[in-house]
Amino acid sequence: MSLGRIITLNNGLKVPQIGFGTWQAAPGEVEKAVATALKVGYRHIDCALVYENQNEVADGIAESGVPREEIILVSKLWNNSHRPELVEADLDLTLSQLQTKYLDVYLIHWPVPFKPGKDLQPVADGKKVIDTEAPGIVATWKELIRISKETDKVRAIGVSNFSKSALEKIIDATGVVPAMNQIECHPSLIQPELFEFCKEKGIKITAYSPLGNNITGKPRIIDSPEVKEIAKRLGKEPAQVLIAWGAKQGFFVIPKSVTESRIKSNFDDFELSDADFEEINKVGRATRSRANAPCEYNPPWAINVFDEPYEQSQPLKVWRTLLTAFGSHVLTIIIFLYLVLFLPWFRGYIPNYPRWQQSRRLRVLVPVLTVTILLGWTCYVVSLSHSGKRAIQAAKDAFHAVADDNSAKTKLSGEGMGVMRAMAGTTALYTLTLGVLGFIPYPDVPVRVKKA
Ligand SMILES: NC(=O)c1ccc[n+]([C@@H]2O[C@H](COP(=O)([O-])OP(=O)(O)OC[C@H]3O[C@@H](n4cnc5c(N)ncnc54)[C@H](OP(=O)(O)O)[C@@H]3O)[C@@H](O)[C@H]2O)c1
Repeated sequence: MSLGRIITLNNGLKVPQIGFGTWQAAPGEVEKAVATALKVGYRHIDCALVYENQNEVADGIAESGVPREEIILVSKLWNNSHRPELVEADLDLTLSQLQTKYLDVYLIHWPVPFKPGKDLQPVADGKKVIDTEAPGIVATWKELIRISKETDKVRAIGVSNFSKSALEKIIDATGVVPAMNQIECHPSLIQPELFEFCKEKGIKITAYSPLGNNITGKPRIIDSPEVKEIAKRLGKEPAQVLIAWGAKQGFFVIPKSVTESRIKSNFDDFELSDADFEEINKVGRATRSRANAPCEYNPPWAINVFDEPYEQSQPLKVWRTLLTAFGSHVLTIIIFLYLVLFLPWFRGYIPNYPRWQQSRRLRVLVPVLTVTILLGWTCYVVSLSHSGKRAIQAAKDAFHAVADDNSAKTKLSGEGMGVMRAMAGTTALYTLTLGVLGFIPYPDVPVRVKKA
C-alpha cells in the first residue's frame, strides 16, 4: 500500500510524490503499463515528446478510466524547439498526442538546443547538431513563462537536467523560479550543492532513473550487492529501497516499468530510517556514476552539460556556447601572441626588427591593439561575474524596451550573444578611439638599428 505522500510546488500545485516513468517503454507496452499504473493508484505520469510514445500513454489513460483531472501529467519541450517562436507549437503537439487541453507541469527537457526542424535527433558528422545560433536558455525559459501566463495550456513550468549555474542563469534573468528540476538522481549520483540550491529556492527535485539507468552501459545501483543486502535485511525489493532513498529527501521519484508486478511493488513505498539512509549513501559514494551524460551517448552531443571531468574537453558549454568555443580559446591565443611577439619589439628589446616595422604608425598601433585586446578580455571576464552579467542583462532589457521588431528581439535575447556583443562593442569602441590616435603625428621615438 502506498503512503500516498503529496508534495506542493511553488505555485501551490499538489503532486503525488511517487510518479510513473515512460521512457524506453515501447509503443504497444506503454499503453498497458500506463493503464496498469493508474489502476494500481499512480496519479503522476512523466512523459516527453522525444519518448515518441505519448499517443499510447493517452490510450493507456483512456483505458484506465481514471478522469484526466485526477492525474498530474508532466511532459517536456524537446531540444529542437528551443527557439522561442517554436516552443508553443512543440507544446501543442504534446497536447494533441496526449489528448489533453493542458499539462500539469511542462519542463525544458535539456538546456541544450538542437538544430530546429522535423528531425528530433539531427546528426551530422557522427554528432548531434547543436544549434549554436539559438538565443539560449533564458529566451526559452521566458517563452515558457509567457505561455504559462497568457494561456491555460500549462499549470506549472520547470526544467530538467539543469545544473546550479543554469538554474541561476534563468532565475537571475527573469526572477521566475522553476517549480521543478527533473534530474538523474540515485545513490550513485548524490549532488549536495545542487540539492541544497534547489531546496533554498523552493525548486522541487524529481529523481529520474532512480534505479540507475544503464543507457551508456554503466553498472546500475539497483544491481549493487550492498543494496540487495540492505533490501534483504529490510524485507523489501532493491527498487523499493532506492525509491525510498529519493523520497526520504523530499524528491519526486518516477520509476519506469512495463512489468505488472514491478509497477505494483514500486508504488508500495515505505519510510527509510536515518541509519539505513546513511548506509545507502555510503554505497552510492563508493560507486559514483552518471548514466545520462550526453557526451557519452551514441551519437554524442559535443557539449558540457554537467561539468563532469569527462565533459571538460567538449567544445561547447551550456548557455555560453559561443564564448567557450571562440571567446576564451581564441582570445587567449591572440593575447599570448601579442604579448610574446609584439610587446618586446615595441619596447625596443629586439633591435634588428625589419625596417617596415620601424614605422612610427605601427609602433603606435601595436600597443593600441594590445591594449584593446586586453580590454576586450577584461570585459569578457567581467561579463562572467555576477555583477557583470546583471549589467549586461540590464543593457539587453533596455534594448528590448526600444526594439519593436519581434525578430530583432528574439535574436538579441540570447545571453551568449549578449555577452559577445558587450565584449565586441567595448573592443570596437577602444579600437576606434585608439586607432584614430595612431594617426595623430607622434614625436619621434628613437629606434635601435644594428649598425652594419
Ligand atoms: N528528464 C530526463 O532527461 C529523463 C531521463 C531519463 C529518465 N527520465 C524519466 O524518468 C523515468 C525513470 O527513469 P529510467 O526509465 O531511466 O530508469 P529507472 O526507472 O531507474 O529504471 C527502469 C528500468 O528498471 C527496470 N525496473 C523497474 N522496476 C524494477 C524493479 N522493481 N526491479 C527491477 N528492475 C526494475 C525496468 O524494467 P521493466 O520496464 O522491464 O520492468 C527498466 O529496465 C523515465 O521513464 C522517464 O520518464 C527523464
